[in-house]
Amino acid sequence: MSKLIVITGATRGLGLALATNFAVSGHTVIGCGRNADAIAVLNEKFGDPHLFQAINVANDKEVAQFAAHVLESYGAPDFLINNAALMNQPKPLWEIPAAEFDSLMAVNVNGTANLIRHFLPAMGARHKGVIVNFSSGWGRSTDANVAPYCASKWAIEGLTQALSQELPPGLATVALNPGIIDTDMLRTCWPDGAASFPNPAEWVKKAAPFILKLGAKDNGKSLTVS
Ligand SMILES: NC(=O)c1ccc[n+]([C@@H]2O[C@H](COP(=O)([O-])OP(=O)(O)OC[C@H]3O[C@@H](n4cnc5c(N)ncnc54)[C@H](OP(=O)(O)O)[C@@H]3O)[C@@H](O)[C@H]2O)c1
Repeated sequence: MSKLIVITGATRGLGLALATNFAVSGHTVIGCGRNADAIAVLNEKFGDPHLFQAINVANDKEVAQFAAHVLESYGAPDFLINNAALMNQPKPLWEIPAAEFDSLMAVNVNGTANLIRHFLPAMGARHKGVIVNFSSGWGRSTDANVAPYCASKWAIEGLTQALSQELPPGLATVALNPGIIDTDMLRTCWPDGAASFPNPAEWVKKAAPFILKLGAKDNGKSLTVS
């Protein structure tokens, strides 16, 4: 059955691969990202009923307007996929400027909370829907030079666990580690090794059906695409 799927960070990488796979499989995709040119290309390519909008998930007002428009035009989503995130420039924590640390946390953590704040009440009223918060291997382990990113993804794991204990009946939230995939993000933190990993088009063949199978039984789980 066709699902209504909201996904953040749909302009590149894993979000673009998921949005494309869902749209061509007959689901309705509502996507966002900051890059207005990429958003225009997506609207041109997929058209009605899909919708792509240029917003910054770190901006609660922009998310509120985006959610209000989506809820009024389409209703509550079956899936809310919080995929948008930033990676820090690899450096020891004390060498990372405050502005870079702040904007990473604002996107990866606050952005996820912003989407949940504005979509969850309508999903709760329907007693149906799954919130997928993208985590990482670095949400469950750590390495040098990625402290801000690790902090943000450990936060996503904690936020998801706590949220799972608050959700209205019928809903579910999971933290999802996608695995290691050759995207712009991986090339930022691992420029020499990224090409040896699968690309998003290969990854999505497993990831899209994995996500679509999630339901109320999975509430509170920390999962990895497999
Ligand atoms: N690739 C991996 O190996 C890997 C491993 C573990 C976890 N992950 C997680 O998987 C998810 C996707 O990663 P990826 O590798 O696909 O990253 P990516 O290639 O860097 O893409 C990130 C996406 O997020 C969007 N984005 C960034 N800041 C945003 C903002 N403020 N508002 C709205 N959209 C924003 C970007 O679009 P714009 O530039 O248009 O804003 C882009 O579409 C992330 O949560 C990441 O942490 C990835």
